[in-house]
Amino acid sequence: MARINEHYAKLPASYLFPEIGRRVRAFQAANADAKVIRLGIGDVTEPLAPAIITAMHAAVDEMGARETFRGYGPEQGYDFLVEAIRVHDFTSRGLQVDADEIFVSDGSKCDSGNIQEIFALGARIAVTDPVYPVYVDSNVMAGRTDAVGPDGRYPGFTYLVGTEQNGFQPAPPAEPADFVYLCSPNNPTGTVATREQLTNWVHWAKRTDSVILFDAAYESYIADDTLPRSIFEIPGARDVAIELRSFSKRAGFTGVRCAFMVIPKTVMGTAPDGSRVALHKLWSRRHSTKFNGASYIVQRGAAAAYSADGLAQTRAQIAFYMENAKLLREGLTAAGFTVFGGVHAPYIWIRARDGSSAAERGREAEPKGEAGRSTSWDFFDRLLTSAQIVGTPGSGFGPAGEGYFRLSAFNSRANIEEAISRIRRVFA
Ligand SMILES: Cc1ncc(COP(=O)(O)O)c(C=O)c1O
Repeated sequence: MARINEHYAKLPASYLFPEIGRRVRAFQAANADAKVIRLGIGDVTEPLAPAIITAMHAAVDEMGARETFRGYGPEQGYDFLVEAIRVHDFTSRGLQVDADEIFVSDGSKCDSGNIQEIFALGARIAVTDPVYPVYVDSNVMAGRTDAVGPDGRYPGFTYLVGTEQNGFQPAPPAEPADFVYLCSPNNPTGTVATREQLTNWVHWAKRTDSVILFDAAYESYIADDTLPRSIFEIPGARDVAIELRSFSKRAGFTGVRCAFMVIPKTVMGTAPDGSRVALHKLWSRRHSTKFNGASYIVQRGAAAAYSADGLAQTRAQIAFYMENAKLLREGLTAAGFTVFGGVHAPYIWIRARDGSSAAERGREAEPKGEAGRSTSWDFFDRLLTSAQIVGTPGSGFGPAGEGYFRLSAFNSRANIEEAISRIRRVFA
């Protein structure tokens, strides 16, 4: 009898993006001529930068010659990539990171889902709400919680609620947690943590002996150099924080797959006998047992993102997406939406509202405080049917996302402009 992991039954029946896909397919089946614009899933649309393609072609050729062929590589990543990461992302910014503290992987989704394995099953997990769902679901799968409650929350997790009042950057909780997931620039809200906010987190982690997982998958979208790109910019963070970075959004690697995790050797956990253990040691064991290294060709491509040409080309791509974000922000604001994010992140977070235009709303009787608000899924359906635009319902990122909606800036300029003109036609 193959008994299954019953914790999987505690997960929501449908992951967010399959449900979006189902609704879009149903709409397209009934409206074959509709030109649907997809601003839902956060996937890049620009082709890989030429410097990266050249490097990957050369690596393919190396694999085809006996003298330069390579089999299994080092599990933590090839030196040429680790060194490029260390110098460019950290030491050139005055941040100390040792080469053996960098673990190259095939994606931050896996890293953020797998990291929980090195913590006790009874560990208290803190997550923001709304949240990148992988942080929550991976802990549910591991068995760290009972079934989800009627409020959409799992008992045993500490939820840190992001609101308009706190700028979707919740403060540390009063109580301790073993492990907290933070993401800045944030998916889904597109907001970014300030130095002061991250300093509060580091102080809290030190005070409560907690560990921070800082997901910086979108750091390259930060436009203001005074904002922190790395948690290690905060004094003391090397004692309490792990950082995730990905080439997915910074170099268009969503289909190529390369990322890395930084675990300073100074971050400690506690064993059942009270002794202190470096998390680095545990992750190193985990990584070398369950992972055989990212592909050589891919790592050559990632390293090329740090060459002078690679940097210039990938920065131009990011600037292109961020111009899209700016246009979306302006268009949505002009159409009367309340807009968050989109300045240091490729995501725009808006208040969902009904489909009526301002003129129609003006004809309504006494508007109530929240007149015009709608649920995230109602707004999804309205946007799809009236403007043929696909976005992501905020409620898919947690109960506190209800009433909000995420739009992504990853698309062609023509599609962004078309989307804005449709939104203005329907809602302005
Ligand atoms: C916050 C966050 N972390 C991690 C990831 C996953 O990145 P990767 O493509 O490296 O798996 C994403 C992708 O959307 C993300 O939004």
